[in-house]
Amino acid sequence: MKALVLAGGKGTRLRPLTHTSAKQLVPVANKPVLYYGLEAIREAGITDVGIVVGDTAAEVRAAVGDGSMFGLDVTYIPQEAPLGLAHCVLIAREFLGDEPFVLYLGDNFLVGGIAGLVDTFRRADYDAQILLTRVAEPQFYGVAELGPSGEILRLEEKPEHPRSDLAIVGVYIFSPAVHEAVRAITPSARGELEITDAVTWLIDHGSRVHSHLVDGYWKDTGRLQDMLECNRIVLERIEPGVRGTVDRLSEITGRVVVERGAVVENSILRGPIVIGADTKITSSYIGPFTSIGASCLVENAEIDYSIVLDGSSVHGVSRIAHSLIGRNVEVSRATGMPNTHELMVGDHSRIQVPA
Ligand code: G1P
Repeated sequence: MKALVLAGGKGTRLRPLTHTSAKQLVPVANKPVLYYGLEAIREAGITDVGIVVGDTAAEVRAAVGDGSMFGLDVTYIPQEAPLGLAHCVLIAREFLGDEPFVLYLGDNFLVGGIAGLVDTFRRADYDAQILLTRVAEPQFYGVAELGPSGEILRLEEKPEHPRSDLAIVGVYIFSPAVHEAVRAITPSARGELEITDAVTWLIDHGSRVHSHLVDGYWKDTGRLQDMLECNRIVLERIEPGVRGTVDRLSEITGRVVVERGAVVENSILRGPIVIGADTKITSSYIGPFTSIGASCLVENAEIDYSIVLDGSSVHGVSRIAHSLIGRNVEVSRATGMPNTHELMVGDHSRIQVPA
């Protein structure tokens, strides 16, 4: 069994972060989303992994390398434009050969791994296995309609009027039968070769397509609230540990990770949180479900339920919540009168200030 991991695409919903950075590399608890997927693949006993890359290829290659840090053997497969998930399978034909494979969307986050799913597939005689989960807003996903005995009646990609709340999770397992399907389908209204259409093609041509309801936690990290939620889930389970320096005036409660080289002075850290390496927190409050990246500076500030990426600083601002702050960003208090918000913000940013 091989794995095909998709790490291309544009990540339009996470702009402006994804103007400069791959969406699959946005960190959850200070670790890129993509790493969680690669670890799950390795845990399922798969080592031969193809990664489809697009515009952000250089960044993904720099982050994953030859895969040896995960115990994987990685082959990069360039995609010239984001032409759809089924297009990725099409261009990976040579890499995949005639083996079954896991198709894993690099921005998907699945708690509980895939070892059990891979096992089931290995034992059964399926041509495809898809995962489903109940979601509040099915219109943003591929949606399945099931029959009385759980058989798949219909799959629709981002339907305006979903027939169920069962979203298709971005982790699939295929037999080589899928190659004929991806060759047979035509681009959708959004101009992409949809994997949903390929699975429908398989069903229509009598292939055995099995669906499995995911009981663990799943998120497509394409949107801010989903990133923050994933961050919360990972932090809730994180192994606490203080490897940096925390002074006597500071107070730590709950699951708190302070990485090597980090310095915490006169501050309250209320876990679960992670403070990255070489970050300095002074006279501040860091509240639950917050990840502060490496080499950040937080001074006289309050932050909770947020993600702050490497190299950023927050000075004299309270309170920042439900926020995602990119790399090398400066947030500070304006001094003097008039009482203004002074902003220099990238394209497609979103800012909410108190009235
Ligand atoms: C893709 C699939 C969709 C699936 C989703 C899961 O959507 O087309 O069926 O529900 O991944 O993350 P996309 O991320 O391309 O919008």
